[in-house]
Amino acid sequence: MTVQEKPAQSAVPEGVYDLPVTDIRHYTDRLFFFRTERPSGFRFRSGEFVMIGLPPEVMGGKTVWRAYSIASPAWEEHIDFYSIKVPDGPLTSKLMDIEVGDTVWMRKKPTGTLVHDALVPGKRLFLLCTGTGIAPFASIIRDPETYEKFEKVYVIHTCRDNAELQYGFDLVDEIANHEILAEIVGDKLVHWASCTRQDADTGKGVHAGRMTDMMRSGTLYEELGIEPLNPETCRVMICGSMAMLKDCANLCEEAGLAEGSNSEPGQYVIERAFVG
Ligand code: A2P
Repeated sequence: MTVQEKPAQSAVPEGVYDLPVTDIRHYTDRLFFFRTERPSGFRFRSGEFVMIGLPPEVMGGKTVWRAYSIASPAWEEHIDFYSIKVPDGPLTSKLMDIEVGDTVWMRKKPTGTLVHDALVPGKRLFLLCTGTGIAPFASIIRDPETYEKFEKVYVIHTCRDNAELQYGFDLVDEIANHEILAEIVGDKLVHWASCTRQDADTGKGVHAGRMTDMMRSGTLYEELGIEPLNPETCRVMICGSMAMLKDCANLCEEAGLAEGSNSEPGQYVIERAFVG
């Protein structure tokens, strides 16, 4: 939308930030990344989510709110989001057209269970995600606390096709080239990616098939050269569709891990990858 076309701006409601968009990357026709300014008073824990909306004048009169994981770590000066585009989705059908300089509304209160506080101490952290479910882990893998708490961190990401996996590859590259993070992370971070609806780009290290099938068969652990999930050393965070959450939670339960929450930390935690 150009400046001339913009209708008069609505007043920002109490408890809401009006955030200028500073960067946008369209990964595929289904997925995009956007960055906003970060208000000085806004605090959150890496892995949490917030409610996002667009001003009513862009929405035909009424703001629709959707949950979005914050994809940047708690120490960053900006806020990142990674979103699906749903052509008939009430919010994303509009959000996908935002441009740098437009504003996004964000409710001030962050929340969520994909946080370190919800897990008891362990040695290996598995971050299981499909599609935009990688967003909270984009935050977690760039938080130094993650590497103070765990010896090894495995990001396991399954998408429909190779292009949808690119954001994960970009994150790992960014960490490897980051002045401070590269040293903190060292060889503790392992990125494992797979796709299900296209021939896997094996040259890039992409595997074929769902992570859940390869966890069940054991091939994922064999490839990584590690022992399967166990409750003594392994902690798991899961973010994806309802079906994926259920399957991954079952794998955790079968391995003897107990679900945790903010009030009662456990060995694994889940959160839905939000859509709409
Ligand atoms: P598949 O292509 O076999 O359905 P989506 O974009 O629909 O959210 O899916 C993202 C990825 O998650 C796809 O690769 C999809 O595989 C995979 N997926 C869907 N359901 C599950 C599940 N229950 N367990 C693991 N992966 C799943």
